[in-house]
Amino acid sequence: MRLLVTGGAGFIGSNFVRQALRRSRQVEILVLDLLTYAGNLENLAPVADLPTFRFSRVDIRDAAAVRDAFRSFRPEAVVHFAAESHVDRSIHSPAEFVSTNVTGTGVLLEAAREWPVGRFLHVSTDEVYGSIPAPHAADEERPLSPSNPYSASKAGADLLVSAYAKTHSLPVLITRASNNYGPYQFPEKLIPLMITNALADKPLPVYGDGLQERDWLHVHDHCRAIEAVLAAGRAGETYNIGGECSMQNIEVVRRVLDCCRKPASLIEYVPDRPGHDRRYALDSKKVKSDTGWEPSTSFDSGLWETVRWFRDNPEWSARVHSGEYRTFHDLNYSQRGEFPSV
Ligand code: NAD
Ligand code: TYD
Repeated sequence: MRLLVTGGAGFIGSNFVRQALRRSRQVEILVLDLLTYAGNLENLAPVADLPTFRFSRVDIRDAAAVRDAFRSFRPEAVVHFAAESHVDRSIHSPAEFVSTNVTGTGVLLEAAREWPVGRFLHVSTDEVYGSIPAPHAADEERPLSPSNPYSASKAGADLLVSAYAKTHSLPVLITRASNNYGPYQFPEKLIPLMITNALADKPLPVYGDGLQERDWLHVHDHCRAIEAVLAAGRAGETYNIGGECSMQNIEVVRRVLDCCRKPASLIEYVPDRPGHDRRYALDSKKVKSDTGWEPSTSFDSGLWETVRWFRDNPEWSARVHSGEYRTFHDLNYSQRGEFPSV
């Protein structure tokens, strides 16, 4: 199976690529990634030597480069992770969110129409449903009601993907996952930021009253779900992927402090995020019945393992913060020919 993976140098994408290549020798992967601040070739170093792995630095908004990649690699399936992914950044600089998340997705869909693929899996988010009042959970039929530029741009991409299924019979799949956590997550999202700050004895900024609720999904469970949907999902369908672990932010922060053996005095309440969604909650019955997937990582063990990973890899956090190791040149891989481009 030849898989074209966009955004494969980011958090979830790189976990997916490492997991998929480790699991099967039959899978051949070409990663297309622009290597923004969130993309890091070091995340792919464990698979860089495999003959089944290729990387090309491509902006998904660049139609000619994307078409070239499809023409030369001829993917049988696409897994589309590439996106601007952080809500706070989208509030301050929305333009990149609209162009990468909406236009970039449109460019990929056009290329997949020109060079037909068996599956086009678009990785989306529970945030497209907006805030869900308790005790309800959003199923896939719930109308989209995004609250911030990030979730609005993802909702726009979802609609574009569905439109290509209707207009061009493109065999698309959409997955909408809840908040991910785990190794290699850029320390701007709640859990990795709280871990890296706690380990450095820095304040832990909690927005508003800290009583907002999120559903937490370990990234390895998410990646298994994407593999399951790719293999057994019904074309044209959308699948929610929840972690069955709903928790208020302040509780998450307290557990991080416990795992890091740091005092609660590090918690600092700060002004709330504008348009902050109070609660996300997913109904994931459909993915379970169609594919048999279930989340298998408990939050406690997943969080311990994540804290251990950040504790064991302080140089990774230091390098992503300083913006090092983002280019072929930095890694010297192009000279060594380990990341042949297409
Ligand atoms: P990330 O920010 O860690 O990684 C994004 C990757 O996309 C980076 O490698 C970046 O270099 C690349 N990229 C950005 N713009 C690009 C462009 N124009 N062309 C090519 N590559 C580009 O994101 P993540 O947390 O791994 O999320 C991956 C996907 O999963 C996103 O689509 C996101 O919306 C979705 N998602 C994330 C979560 C979460 O909790 N992190 C939850 C549900 C869904
Ligand atoms: P985040 O990880 O940014 O994901 P999302 O906004 O996509 O859910 O934030 C998760 C929750 O944590 C969200 O309710 C905002 C909150 N939060 C804080 O309280 N402090 C922080 O420093 C960050 C980054 C997030």
